[in-house]
Amino acid sequence: MSALTFAGKPFQITPNPHPATAERRAAILADPGFGKNFSDHMIQSTWTTEGGGGPAELKPYGPLTLDPAAAVLHYAQEIFEGLKAYRHADGSIWSFRPEANAARLQRSARRLALPELATEDFMAAIEALVAADCAWVPESAPGQERSYYLRPFMYASEPFLGVRPAATIEFLLIGCPVGSYFSGGVRPVSIWLSSADTRAARGGTGEAKCGGNYAASLAPMLEAGEHGCDQVCFLDAAENRWVEELGGMNLYFVTRDGRLITPELGTILEGVTRSSILVLAKELGLEVEERKVDIAEWREGVAGGEVTEVFACGTAAVITPVGKLVWDGGEVVSRNAGAEDSVTMRLRRTLVDIQYGRATDTHGWMRRLA
Ligand SMILES: Cc1ncc(COP(=O)(O)O)c(C=O)c1O
Repeated sequence: MSALTFAGKPFQITPNPHPATAERRAAILADPGFGKNFSDHMIQSTWTTEGGGGPAELKPYGPLTLDPAAAVLHYAQEIFEGLKAYRHADGSIWSFRPEANAARLQRSARRLALPELATEDFMAAIEALVAADCAWVPESAPGQERSYYLRPFMYASEPFLGVRPAATIEFLLIGCPVGSYFSGGVRPVSIWLSSADTRAARGGTGEAKCGGNYAASLAPMLEAGEHGCDQVCFLDAAENRWVEELGGMNLYFVTRDGRLITPELGTILEGVTRSSILVLAKELGLEVEERKVDIAEWREGVAGGEVTEVFACGTAAVITPVGKLVWDGGEVVSRNAGAEDSVTMRLRRTLVDIQYGRATDTHGWMRRLA
């Protein structure tokens, strides 16, 4: 770990003097939940317009000091990423296509006028945190899907109440052991179609992973809950017609004649899972289409049997079958959502087996962290 550098400088290391006890950690790892129990350390580095990227400190996980005038609290100049570290059966720890997350953080940074973190610094931060907190990376029996979720993020810390890119930025990396994203494991989810609210417009921040996109999805999420649904789906802002994505996942449709269709890029987040599925699906013999998807194609396709499966995908929940689409005035149900022999579940098994080292990584997607 000492050989790792960040912004060309060695990591400054302050071990946590009060790490969780082995008993406490074991209790958390046995039932990790999602995103609530964080490991002993975190990484922080400060960037300034004058000095550029500073050294990174690996230090005890804990609260941050934030000036009430910090620009992020007022103008939401903030971006983040999400990826996982997987423990393989031999004890080694790996991440899945982390360079794609590094590249997306750089794209998000350009959109939010934040500094671009070099891919090698992104990788060094991940390696340093996983090395320090490797005991927090859970073992995972097939079907458990436990992993260590990594959350790199960047925000404007400069105390200044003016609308301009901040001159002081913090980069942080935290991590937490996680289990299945949806409690109860893989089961078909129900989707509420948001008709009043949209998530992103052309030229907006839909392609960036910035907090504001998620804040805007919360009221529609509540609406989804009121209609008994797990997730919300957004349509395009211009015509209220084209399927975009869920609040935190991309969407795919499987047709009776063996095509796999996903909404084209432009105003949606380019998911790492989404792009991996594009590759895997072709290898499974499916014809892949990235294009506009009319909401009528979903409703009428499922109702008429032309669309045989719908699924959502993202790092947290991997691939999740969609059982039902509900809108103001109606619903359609996908009858065989989540069936073991479905395309959805075949793709899911293929991807998860690569991530957990149970299948050969023929694409060079896995990166060893420890
Ligand atoms: C809005 C949104 N779409 C899609 C995704 C899926 O992206 P990925 O597969 O990289 O996790 C995410 C999760 O990061 C997301 O937040």
